[in-house]
Amino acid sequence: MQADLLIRHAAQVVTPVGRRPLRGKALGSLQVIPDGAVAVREGRILAVGPTAEVEARLREVTEVLEARGQVVVPGFVDPHTHLVWAGDRAAEFERRLQGATYLEILQAGGGILATVRATREASVEQLRAETRSRMDRMLLHGTTTAEAKTGYGLAPEAEFRLLDVIHDLDATHPLDLVPTFLGAHAIPEEHRADPEAYVALLVEAMLPAVAARRYPVEGPWRAPWTDGRAAWFCDVFCERGAFDLDQTQRILEAARRLGFGLKVHADEFVPSLGATPLAVALGATSVDHLVSTPPEHLALLARSETVGVMLPGTSFGLGSGHYAPARRFLEAGGALAIATDLNPGTSWCESMPMMMALAARYLGLTPAEALAAATLNAACALGLGHEIGSVEIGKWADLVGIDAPDYRHLAYRYGVNLVHTVIKRGKIVVREGRAVYRGTDGARPGGDRP
Ligand code: NIG
Ligand code: FE
Repeated sequence: MQADLLIRHAAQVVTPVGRRPLRGKALGSLQVIPDGAVAVREGRILAVGPTAEVEARLREVTEVLEARGQVVVPGFVDPHTHLVWAGDRAAEFERRLQGATYLEILQAGGGILATVRATREASVEQLRAETRSRMDRMLLHGTTTAEAKTGYGLAPEAEFRLLDVIHDLDATHPLDLVPTFLGAHAIPEEHRADPEAYVALLVEAMLPAVAARRYPVEGPWRAPWTDGRAAWFCDVFCERGAFDLDQTQRILEAARRLGFGLKVHADEFVPSLGATPLAVALGATSVDHLVSTPPEHLALLARSETVGVMLPGTSFGLGSGHYAPARRFLEAGGALAIATDLNPGTSWCESMPMMMALAARYLGLTPAEALAAATLNAACALGLGHEIGSVEIGKWADLVGIDAPDYRHLAYRYGVNLVHTVIKRGKIVVREGRAVYRGTDGARPGGDRP
């Protein structure tokens, strides 16, 4: 065998196994290989196993990476982010600390709508630069694939601009992005008097236009599975003050007819709106948040093929103390993933290891479960379980080297970055904690900054 890259003598190579999500009690069943090695060829994993065994099968190796003292795990997959926005909401954060609630602020025209104003005003260059710096930070924290939602445009041209930024950055940055259309994130200011007019605009004009929109499939960092579609998924924020159940249903049904995969923001605040059973009935790829989901809805989701995505960074970011009932979901046999929900309102955090640390403490996951939820199951929440999410022969070589003797350190430690090495499709993009790739649009990676 001939390899382009051999990573050897890792203290452990740790990975979930398979192409389908690990469900229920099986979530924590990982493969742990002491003194492990991974061989890579043409961007894909060629061999994985104990170093002695992998080396014995290799004839020629172009580059060797010594991983002593490191744990090698699959690149993290972040399956729920609101990546593209301009500005910040630090003042709103301070108001919430003094007692204002998230939904009150949204009702008063702030929150999501404040970011919509800032995003509409920003130039494409500014949006690209702000988004790119978040992507650098994600990559430095070990995320190699992320979902990216629109939703801060809320008008046809304004939403298209966000899709343009997503596709441009997907092509020119090592982090792979999976685009989701979230035109149904909030009722925009100009439609507040008549929300139904916005739902009609979404169903009759925006969704068909997004479905018809195509992007070039070339680009140095373009994912091999990219097919030019503007968005793979359509998502709706089903919540009091956003979209009600009936509106959610009409938008999702229209999206399904147009060929979008479906996602829903369900049960983030107000319980029992019914978005979870609706999403299951429509065959959604994932249902996300699930903080206030009633037990019978959670059980229904657990028995379905739909992945449940829990977002502990959002509960933490809101300082709410209400976390999603992950244990109950797993006891019912559910397929659980975790994500950052990266956004300027509820969870500005680019780090999946931080989500693992929160999941261990507040969702009751073991470190092994948290790792599987952040890798294979997260890939399945994007329909990519056959391509990424585990260290297995044939999958893309998206790998992370952690500066720790044991994978449990990932959930055990927090607030510091233990990521030493990041490999994207066989290319080293982070070395010794610093970004080493070159952006093709002339941008310098975040790790190069003084
Ligand atoms: O998932 N809930 C809706 N969307 C985001 C928050 C977006 C924002 O506040 O800007 C969420 O929490
Ligand atoms: Fe969200």
